[in-house]
Amino acid sequence: MSSRSEAITCEFCIALQVRVLYCITGASSLVLKPKTTDDVSRIMAHCDKRHLAVVPQGGNTGLVGGSVPVFDEVVLSTALMNKILDLDEISGVVTCQAGCILETLDDHVAERGLAMPLDLGAKASCHIGGNVSTSAGGLRLIRYGSLHGSVLGLEAVLASGEVLDCMSGMRKDNTGYDLKQLLIGSEGTLGVVTKVAILCPSRPAAVNVALLACNSFADVLKTLQKGKAMLSEILSAFELIDSASMMAVEKYLHLRNPLSSGEFYCLIETSGSHAGHDEEKLTAFLDSVMEEGSVCDGTVAQGITQQKDLWALRERVAEALLREGYTYKYDVSLPTRHFYDIVVDMRRHLAGAAVLGCYGYGHVGDGNVHLNVTTRQYDADVGHRIEPYVFEWVRGRHGSISAEHGLGFKKRDFIHYSKAASAVAWMKRFKTLMDPNGILNPYKTLPE
Ligand code: FAD
Ligand code: MLT
Ligand code: ZN
Repeated sequence: MSSRSEAITCEFCIALQVRVLYCITGASSLVLKPKTTDDVSRIMAHCDKRHLAVVPQGGNTGLVGGSVPVFDEVVLSTALMNKILDLDEISGVVTCQAGCILETLDDHVAERGLAMPLDLGAKASCHIGGNVSTSAGGLRLIRYGSLHGSVLGLEAVLASGEVLDCMSGMRKDNTGYDLKQLLIGSEGTLGVVTKVAILCPSRPAAVNVALLACNSFADVLKTLQKGKAMLSEILSAFELIDSASMMAVEKYLHLRNPLSSGEFYCLIETSGSHAGHDEEKLTAFLDSVMEEGSVCDGTVAQGITQQKDLWALRERVAEALLREGYTYKYDVSLPTRHFYDIVVDMRRHLAGAAVLGCYGYGHVGDGNVHLNVTTRQYDADVGHRIEPYVFEWVRGRHGSISAEHGLGFKKRDFIHYSKAASAVAWMKRFKTLMDPNGILNPYKTLPE
């Protein structure tokens, strides 16, 4: 495959350099902004014929460099594919083009009493096509499950330009292989997602948000276990902020932590249809965890403004850490009992290194911890001390080295830590079958 993009004459062409958060810089002389599936099809057919590499790009919020043109790939942006095509109020299925921004979709479905089944800190920028292509997890996976369950239909353009039509609005459809599942989480390496149909839950009429402080991680686990048991069907988020991360949002973003003590903070959200019923359940749960001593302090937000303020403490941790300097980011799944051990062990492992901080936060309800290490600027020695140590550590606990962000450019060479050689070999066979010339997002997801 040629690594140089030849010029394509196209009215959507603009020259630009693509820069992504976290110091991955790409170079491309061409960005194409199609509006329709047919535009995408013609672009792909043209690029395939001329062996031009293409990188699909949504909101460019990915954290592993998946949307970055590594050399001079053509950037295919979905920014203008932003039409909402249909909303079936009865079944709750929204159908739209891939470039719709997640928050815009959520606002749209909210008008009909529905909610998008995923939510993440990047909601104001990320595209639904990017979410589907990364199989984004986020803040409410504990309640609504992953996109592998919520995406009911999908349309994609393959490398050849052929349109793969897996559109459906049915929850149940056992007619043959479920091909769309292969595209979900494939990070733009198998096809360009152009349309999706997504199942939306009812928008909850009653929402409560509480911030609870615990003195130890063992207490967090007790609180989580009790939360799942006592809040059960109304639990919609159970997130963790360690005290280092909490101090970072206070220091760099000047947010206010309403609690005065605690080594760990749990952000708990309930969502239901009956305020009185939910409050009763939440009160019983809070009484129980305070009484048994697993929670040492806590507050329940009074009104939407306070709820947003509490959520900001969790959602803006990544942003706060960026202000500190360079961030080495790891997004791993672990058995929940080992969730925080990785942070403790990394602090020990990095003792004496030129590190500013070692932070742990994330989706504790899903066993997904975000381990972040900061230095003043990028330091290769620190990088080599962390990798592959961190991946070996995760493999030793049978976890996943990428829980929700994908492999992209940064993590692709570490896939073997979480997938068997036979599985990687089959992934490569699918890639060759679907993209024989290797033009779709090369250098991503699969190792050389
Ligand atoms: P991009 O970054 O543009 O692309 C991501 C990957 O998908 C690339 O490989 C790209 O080639 C491919 N791609 C994009 N669009 C298409 C398409 N139409 N067809 C085929 N391939 C495509 N992620 C989580 O999972 N959970 C979180 O809680 C979370 N929180 C975040 C918070 C912040 C502040 C930030 C900055 C990021 C967060 N992320 C999170 C990461 C990121 O937002 C998600 O991965 C998101 O799904 C990426 O969407 P995007 O549109 O920005 O995709
Ligand atoms: C989060 O949960 O905040 C995101 O996945 C971003 C991050 O990992 O920092
Ligand atoms: Zn996350």
